[in-house]
Amino acid sequence: MPAQGFCRSSIVVHPVDQNDPNNYRTISQSETSKIMTNTPLPFDALRPFKSKAEEFTPRDTIPWETQAEQFLRYETAEGFMGLRPLPEIEAHVAWLVEHLALPPGAAILDLGCGPGLYSNRLAKHGYRVTGIDIAQPLLDYAQAEAREQGLTSVYRRLSIFDLPYQAEFEAVLLINSIAKCLTQVALEAVLRKIHTALKPGGHLICEFAPQPDGFDLQEPTVTESISFLAQSPWHNSFHAWMIRELTFPSGGERVTHHLILGPDGQPAEYWSRFCLYSIPVLTDLLSACGFQVRTVFGQTPSRPLEVTDNVCFVWAQRDG
Ligand SMILES: C[S@@+](CC[C@H](N)C(=O)[O-])C[C@H]1O[C@@H](n2cnc3c(N)ncnc32)[C@H](O)[C@@H]1O
Repeated sequence: MPAQGFCRSSIVVHPVDQNDPNNYRTISQSETSKIMTNTPLPFDALRPFKSKAEEFTPRDTIPWETQAEQFLRYETAEGFMGLRPLPEIEAHVAWLVEHLALPPGAAILDLGCGPGLYSNRLAKHGYRVTGIDIAQPLLDYAQAEAREQGLTSVYRRLSIFDLPYQAEFEAVLLINSIAKCLTQVALEAVLRKIHTALKPGGHLICEFAPQPDGFDLQEPTVTESISFLAQSPWHNSFHAWMIRELTFPSGGERVTHHLILGPDGQPAEYWSRFCLYSIPVLTDLLSACGFQVRTVFGQTPSRPLEVTDNVCFVWAQRDG
């Protein structure tokens, strides 16, 4: 059953085409379509029509902590499957170093640091970085990397909702984090804690899911893509991973729905439900929490936000 009721629906099927022979199994187009037509996997049963974002609740069901060990198995030269490619992270770090221009030894707090890909790179520039996350295996990985490379970064198991810090940091990062899932009330509470954690004049670099000017879709939309993988952060044997992106413009929300179907027919599904914020709403919210917005940029630093960007970065500064 197609996702009826949605407009601009599209489906992309890609047989696996990555280069790592241990991780991926390349399958032909004909094999792909055979799987799609003959599969005993209950794709259709798992693609229920949901017409409102509220039907996908709660907001984030990615099992960060329990999936972390499996996630860490899929490290390649390009990075971890599911996180940003390393060259992109390196470009972000270079931008942070150049534009924040923090003094040597400045203290940085990385919220939802994961395996420390940003934190340890910043520590290499001589900053004192603290990374916090709820997934202990990711923190252990980050700390081991820091130790091996002789870096001073420290990692702590702590939720972004429970920040205990007071005027300790020159900069706070909220990058590729669950901030995108937060409602305005929850986001405001987190921003107030970040404000308390920052020194006066301290910097906040925060990533959001934007609702840019010109975002004029009237109807919900869905796009779907399916990959067939030998292994992935989700599963250790051959499986299908469908990603559905559903946008609900009137509610200002986007849902990413992951369907994982293994050969045993045992399905698993997870989703993230993002709030889309317009820049004026974000600016007002940050201002109410004691920040001045310095600049907003698009998917990559150094270029303005575009209508097609799924993420945006906001650089704000705590009032002095
Ligand atoms: C997509 S990963 C990004 C990791 C890292 N920021 C990066 O870009 O490489 C999101 C991270 O947020 C963490 N996370 C989820 N909920 C959290 C919470 N309440 N407090 C702190 N971290 C959280 C997850 O464990 C995961 O490591």
